[in-house]
Amino acid sequence: MILVTGGAGFIGSNFVLDWFAHHDEAVIGLDKLTYAGNLENLASLKDDPRHIFVHGDIGDVELVTRLLAQYRPRAIVNFAAESHVDRSIHGPEDFIQTNIVGTFHLLEAVRTYWSGLTGEEKTGFRFLHVSTDEVYGSLAKGDPAFSETHRYEPNSPYSASKAASDHLVRAYHHTYGLPVLTTNCSNNYGPYHFPEKLIPLMIVNALAGKPLPVYGDGQQIRDWLYVRDHCAAIRCVLAKGRLGEVYNIGGWNEKANIEIVHTVCALLDELRPLKPGSREWEAGSGKDTPPTPHSPLPTYRSLITFVADRPGHDRRYAIDARKIERELGWKPAETFETGIRKTVQWYLDNQGWVSNVQSGSYRQWVEKNYAGRGE
Ligand code: NAD
Ligand code: TYD
Repeated sequence: MILVTGGAGFIGSNFVLDWFAHHDEAVIGLDKLTYAGNLENLASLKDDPRHIFVHGDIGDVELVTRLLAQYRPRAIVNFAAESHVDRSIHGPEDFIQTNIVGTFHLLEAVRTYWSGLTGEEKTGFRFLHVSTDEVYGSLAKGDPAFSETHRYEPNSPYSASKAASDHLVRAYHHTYGLPVLTTNCSNNYGPYHFPEKLIPLMIVNALAGKPLPVYGDGQQIRDWLYVRDHCAAIRCVLAKGRLGEVYNIGGWNEKANIEIVHTVCALLDELRPLKPGSREWEAGSGKDTPPTPHSPLPTYRSLITFVADRPGHDRRYAIDARKIERELGWKPAETFETGIRKTVQWYLDNQGWVSNVQSGSYRQWVEKNYAGRGE
């Protein structure tokens, strides 16, 4: 079996579901269930004997040691992290605790376990650390995309804490020989994405007739990858990756944020058109001009609101994913057009999931993040 940490979060839960779509090998999920962990994502596995869920912290050495001794996993995939840049700006402490101290404690427990293995159990063991392109910092227009040898220049408390965890993982390979693999991926999107991140926030707000807050000039560029493509890449690195190596994963989809928001609005205009006179329509540009048979159709675009920028906002990320393609034969299956359409449709079909995550803590967070930004 394999141990998956952070498996109740956005990418982790997609990974567990994707794993069982391809394997019968059991998974132990270890997750602290922070605001971002949601067991509803794994509801389809409730009675599946292949999935064992354990509520706990990667930093709890005693717990992790016990789980390793009891289940003897052949691999660990480490997704567990605090993952939202804006939250790291408002309060970096949790990021330091989980992403740095937690990863250190996890590595210590794993090192002890792995040192006690023998034969094929030892040589076949893998620790795969899931990281981000944000550790490389920001690119200017025209700069080449991040390769695996790009210098680390993290700019936010989030990316700095992930960079530190990457360095610890690297050091455990070089110093102790721990068989590690590291992946640095670009921005993911898809089902089960918590609606504090750009794409799900825009979909959820638009459907509620709320403003679509675009930071600064909206010209920041991210390289978007459909989450199931990321999951496939991780399966591929776990199966075939060379020990101690880093693999950058990306979708070759550089888009400015404003373009993303326009695309989401256009898909919603097509799939869930605004009805003149509806609450959402009233919230947009339609409100000043009562509809006539010749009025232009109302569009979700009218909800776009430019707000004050994120401090230290990285301008551009882009991933050079040629190494993983060349060495391991992985390529994304989705284009941005197919992936974003599936994503918008998923949110339309799963509004119950959305209302369930919009709990008290989510609402408090939204108030804290957007209060005082103005327009
Ligand atoms: P997420 O915030 O949705 O999920 C994180 C999960 O980790 C949650 O289920 C949470 O409960 C759990 N967790 C947090 N602290 C924990 C702890 N101390 N012990 C055990 N579990 C804990 O994040 P995500 O978007 O799914 O990202 C997963 C991983 O992928 C992270 O390491 C992130 O840095 C990395 N990553 C994310 C993206 C992206 O676009 N979302 C891109 C590249 C890399
Ligand atoms: P986000 O989804 O938070 O991912 P990351 O910061 O890890 O790239 O943000 C993606 C981009 O969208 C980033 O440039 C910030 C921007 N953004 C907005 O313009 N408005 C928002 O409300 C949010 C959450 C993000």
